[in-house]
Amino acid sequence: MKRRVTRRTPNRKLPDSAARRWFRQRLLGWYRKHGRDLPWRTTDDPYHILVSEVMLQQTQVDRVLPKYHEWLGRYPSFEALADADEADVVKTWYPLGYNIRPRRLQSIARESVAKYGGELPSDEATLLSFKGIGPYTAGAVMSFAFRKRAAILDTNVARVLFRVFVARGDHRGHTMDKELWALSRAVLPHKHVFDFNQALMDFGATVCTARKPLCPTCPMKGKCRDYRRPRRRH
Ligand code: ADE
Repeated sequence: MKRRVTRRTPNRKLPDSAARRWFRQRLLGWYRKHGRDLPWRTTDDPYHILVSEVMLQQTQVDRVLPKYHEWLGRYPSFEALADADEADVVKTWYPLGYNIRPRRLQSIARESVAKYGGELPSDEATLLSFKGIGPYTAGAVMSFAFRKRAAILDTNVARVLFRVFVARGDHRGHTMDKELWALSRAVLPHKHVFDFNQALMDFGATVCTARKPLCPTCPMKGKCRDYRRPRRRH
């Protein structure tokens, strides 16, 4: 098995306010033109947001879309999901894979009904106290459902921030989760947090992709630390 080399990355300064402003403007400008029209972007229902985020954790948008609608038709609320039969819940999830995720979602639904009247709390500490809600999902729920100024970091976002602000290469080879969270918080605007976080996800999924990123069309290419110039043809 190939082992990934873990490199220690020295603490570096966060981008200054001009660089942060530049990044926000470029990213939001790009999103307004090219952002995808997705059903979880026109809701602030915490249950809908949570369902979409758990589905999207390991599955691509086009496979999630039909399942998202089917799921909400069958289990329209935390109460409905909490009351459902576990085997049915796992079956409904099929074929998204990773069968732990529907069980986790149902356990969150049961906890929300048992402790919070079938709602999701909006503060970070309580969200993190749920089994199955980690820092990424807590940030997504806070910013997308409760419109709070909360940062997110998943692999897509980490890749974008690493390439633009840190270095060429693969962020996964570095021990720098803490730095990347700090970067994600630093670039987060005060307004338009919802759009900004959705834009980060979309940009990582469609332009700044893991393989074959679309650098020539990128609005950040002028200052990106990992801009890959197209090869000259001879
Ligand atoms: N992947 C995870 N969350 C997402 C979102 N809100 N939009 C698109 N892709 C995602």
